[in-house]
Amino acid sequence: MSSLHRLIAAAAMCLPLGVATAAEPPKYGLGTTPTAAQIAGWDIAVRPDGQGLPDGHGSVKDGDELFANNCAACHGTFGEGAGRYPRLAGEGKLTGDRPEQTVQTYWPFATTLFDYINRAMPFPSPHVLPPEQVYAITAYVLNFNGLVDDNFVADRNTLPMVKMPNRDGFIWTDPRPDTHDTACMTNCRAPADVKVAQTAEGKNLTPRTTGPLDTALPQ
Ligand code: HEC
Repeated sequence: MSSLHRLIAAAAMCLPLGVATAAEPPKYGLGTTPTAAQIAGWDIAVRPDGQGLPDGHGSVKDGDELFANNCAACHGTFGEGAGRYPRLAGEGKLTGDRPEQTVQTYWPFATTLFDYINRAMPFPSPHVLPPEQVYAITAYVLNFNGLVDDNFVADRNTLPMVKMPNRDGFIWTDPRPDTHDTACMTNCRAPADVKVAQTAEGKNLTPRTTGPLDTALPQ
């Protein structure tokens, strides 16, 4: 084959494929292309640095009444908790036998608190509140925790600047031994020769309440 023929053959093999994927993705006869509005409904993730926060703003003052109407039935007027529903205010400790999850202990970033309220609350009908209301409620929750003052207005610039009290209490690198190896793809060891050298047990990553693993029996 001449080099010209080889070139044509190569072009014939590559080009149509490349062109097809760029212009027209493969179709499998399933579903329909989502609209921009449908994608926007799912595209709500907010990152620690505030990326993804929506337009709008909300004040502590507005959040007071919104919290009373949408949240207080379960979380108490000042976040003290009602019945067995979680308390949102107070310091608490995560290190005890019964870790106390509150906004102060459990949320490393105020932006993540916004994200959680936006996607998961109010519990019976999540993600129904418009961004302005979620901003206002987030501001109010931060306020009754003493983390922002009464004049605070939450928006995409102010929320990332709130330093949460337990921000440095989280472990940001995964200490588990099995997550640092490169996967073996060729000439791997025979499965029978593989020995477990260490496990996550004993590193107290998931404290058990029922005793050591090897003596725990079904309840
Ligand atoms: C019908 C009861 C109910 C209502 C109303 C409700 N929540 Fe919740 N909330 C819950 C429950 C239950 C959980 C625990 C959910 C879980 O752990 O999966 C929770 C968890 C939370 C948490 C996390 C608690 C933590 O550990 O830090 C926050 C923050 C929160 N709610 C805020 C709100 C806000 C703000 C509203 C109002 C917009 C609201 N909730 C309305 C029941 C409710």
